[in-house]
Amino acid sequence: MAEEHVGPSEKQIAVHWREEEYYQPSPGFVAQANVNDPAVFERFSLENFPECFREYAELLTWDKPWEQTLDASNPPFWRWFTGGRLNASYNCLDRHLKSSRNKVAYYFIPEKEDDPPVAVTYQELFVRVNEFAALLADFGGLKQGDRVTIHMPMVVDLPVAMLACARLGIIHSVVFGGFSGKACADRIVDSASHILITTDGYYRNGQWLNHKEKADVAVEEAAKAGQTVEKVLIFDRHAGRYQSETPLVAGRDYRITELLASYRGARVEPVSMLAEDPLFLMYTSGSTGKPKGVQHGTGGYLSYATATSKYILDIKPDDVYWCMADIGWITGHSYIVYGPLALGVSSILYEGVPTYPDAGRPWRIAQRFGVDIFHTSPTAIRSLRMLGPDEPGRYDYHFRLMVTVGEPIEPDVWRWYYNVVGKREAVIVDTWWQTENGGFLCSTVPALAAMKPGSAGPGIPGIHPVIFDDAGQEVPAGSGRGGNICIRNPWPGIMQTIWNDPDRFVRTYYAKYNTDPNSKDWRDWPYLAGDGAMLADDGYFRILGRIDDVINVAGHRLGTKELESAVLKIGDVAEAAVVAAVDTIKGTSPEVYVSLTPGITPSEELKRRIIDTITQEIGPIAKPRMVWMVPDLPKTRSGKIMRRILSAISNNAEDIGDVTTLSNPEVVAGIQQIVKQRSEG
Ligand code: PRX
Repeated sequence: MAEEHVGPSEKQIAVHWREEEYYQPSPGFVAQANVNDPAVFERFSLENFPECFREYAELLTWDKPWEQTLDASNPPFWRWFTGGRLNASYNCLDRHLKSSRNKVAYYFIPEKEDDPPVAVTYQELFVRVNEFAALLADFGGLKQGDRVTIHMPMVVDLPVAMLACARLGIIHSVVFGGFSGKACADRIVDSASHILITTDGYYRNGQWLNHKEKADVAVEEAAKAGQTVEKVLIFDRHAGRYQSETPLVAGRDYRITELLASYRGARVEPVSMLAEDPLFLMYTSGSTGKPKGVQHGTGGYLSYATATSKYILDIKPDDVYWCMADIGWITGHSYIVYGPLALGVSSILYEGVPTYPDAGRPWRIAQRFGVDIFHTSPTAIRSLRMLGPDEPGRYDYHFRLMVTVGEPIEPDVWRWYYNVVGKREAVIVDTWWQTENGGFLCSTVPALAAMKPGSAGPGIPGIHPVIFDDAGQEVPAGSGRGGNICIRNPWPGIMQTIWNDPDRFVRTYYAKYNTDPNSKDWRDWPYLAGDGAMLADDGYFRILGRIDDVINVAGHRLGTKELESAVLKIGDVAEAAVVAAVDTIKGTSPEVYVSLTPGITPSEELKRRIIDTITQEIGPIAKPRMVWMVPDLPKTRSGKIMRRILSAISNNAEDIGDVTTLSNPEVVAGIQQIVKQRSEG
């Protein structure tokens, strides 16, 4: 496994970071918090597992109560709240209407600052979801269990489409809007979607982006792989106007505005789903070139997203909550759509980039809407700090709680977040979790534990993490050694399986530390998260980064193999390796090493083609920072590319590690020479 390690080495990070001082939540915060009684840890101890999680499920409205809290009879396919029935859209909408139909669900904020914000109430969201659900059932011919791919930017139509699917028991698969048409096609094919929901375009960084052109590519590429998309349903970014330069394809493309005319006032009964019926798929990167469809269930997932929103984000009915993530990632699913709506809170839904048109934008939004809970990533914090270190102080807003998620946050960046953005008033939770987990795993409970910059914290109530070394031995707290972070027990938010690939699910997450594949005892099935971590004496986990071929660029998860296979589509490239290089804004950024086919000489044109191909195949988020054309890549005797050495070179490591096991150690000096020119030039 070590030779596949692509991130900065544990050693580098450990040297870089020291133990930090604690910051205490204010007495005012503690007094008002949703959880401020330490008894919660006792209630959620392993002795009380799994019944402790009833509390989470009780936050929801069930059509039929569950019979068993956890059916663990077929590890590691855990079934939560079996026998229970509920509908996610009912829980996010209908149940709030009686008391708070006129409450704002979303304030939609267009990226263009002169465009007025739009407030969408729970009643209005309910109406739109019902009308769109009627359209999906009738015109779309969709029914429970079908899959639908949704490729949309940050507009209210996105949660509308998701909740309409949930209402009917249709499994939605939302693809991040920034992904390319080709990446969308791969997900359409794997989920066997016949319908694609998209939009004409949207604003990003001051530009109007034609989004519909990606749908054409997606449908065409999916067809090549044997999957027919029968209908493309297109929302209008500007109500009633289709503004893409890409024409509609007759008999395939339909404008939702026109279709909706037939469904005005329609109401659709929410389908009463079993707790374990799938709610959605979310594709994420792993160690192979093929993204995996992480499948989340209805009852367990929704319970977990809702409870963690309440207890860790400390959401209360009167808050104005803003999560700056994109709904196309898991953070947006759990903490912009399902968790906050199930709690009936008012949220901000912002279309654009945080620094547009300047680094004061988020703070103006916060001031104008009275945002009191703010949720973002280290990358956004770093870029807001770089562009406007003093901006937050110019605005009159007050956060009670702030969240960081998606990447390790450097203590120095954490302190700016705390002192300047939070004005020393807000509690910070550094929440560690993954697409596969449904909700937070490690974080401080905000009123019950001190914050420590750079460390996520202990497992949250009901989550019992442990660090194992490669031999399966537990790495004790305070040992100063890193290892693989695992979770000892199942929890309601854990994925159900990988869509169409249960073997990969077992292999990827459970095989490493399971000693008896026939064991029916959940204790024998620790969940392998795929991150390296260290555990300090105080029980706080510090996350060191991925242990597999996944890199984290600006909080976006990318598989190095996905980038490599894109590059290998170019005939002039013989071999390719992608590594993560430390980046002051994005945390890490991809660098590509290629060797060329015999007879091809390095050129700027080829470099450009490599970059363009990655952008077309995956999307601009995967754009490499550097492309290095080298005579040969370092390899083991068995022919494996040693990414660890390339990563050390890209990161200017003093010690690039042992090269004696290479079959071609002589190439290393030449590569170092080429890369060195960067710092000199
Ligand atoms: O490496 C960890 C990092 O992001 C990975 C999960 O990425 P994804 O599935 O896209 O979900 C991101 C948002 C939940 C993890 O394996 N990661 C996530 N949160 C943190 C983190 N690394 C350090 N600190 C965090 N708070």
